Amino acid sequence: MNKPNIIGVGGNPRNNGNTDILLDHFLMGAESEGGNTKKVLLRNYSIESCIACEACRKAGTCIRFHDGMELLYPEIEEAKGIILGSPTYNYNITAPMKAFIDRLYPYYDFSDERPGPYSSKLEDQG
Ligand SMILES: Cc1cc2nc3c(=O)[nH]c(=O)nc-3n(C[C@H](O)[C@H](O)[C@H](O)COP(=O)(O)O)c2cc1C
Repeated sequence: MNKPNIIGVGGNPRNNGNTDILLDHFLMGAESEGGNTKKVLLRNYSIESCIACEACRKAGTCIRFHDGMELLYPEIEEAKGIILGSPTYNYNITAPMKAFIDRLYPYYDFSDERPGPYSSKLEDQG
């Protein structure tokens, strides 16, 4: 089986809600354009909040927590695109989605000179 190249990440705690429906439609669109897709529902993963230990700057990945992100990092590194789906909770994304995004911190390119513009280690994913 081909590896997924588009990951749809759902940050909605509720099952079968609006975000699930929207995400399914986005992924159907990606499939219809030839993409291999995978849906990742954050509610099925245990993901700690980033604690800003900054160890990933040297290690290149998160070494503080051994949680659901360990399963997701390899898939993110293989992916050509990530679609983020979140309901609005108090004018913002949900807490699980925020935790997920914060845990992508290892993908900043820390070799860049500081202060300066930020770049991503994943910017050449296609
Ligand atoms: C804790 C909480 C906070 C919410 N805050 C907002 C909000 O700020 N603005 C808004 O338009 N809807 C808000 N909503 C409504 C949700 O965005 C709405 O119910 C949405 O459909 C939930 O997504 P889901 O259907 O994928 O579960 C809130 C709902 C909850 C439970």
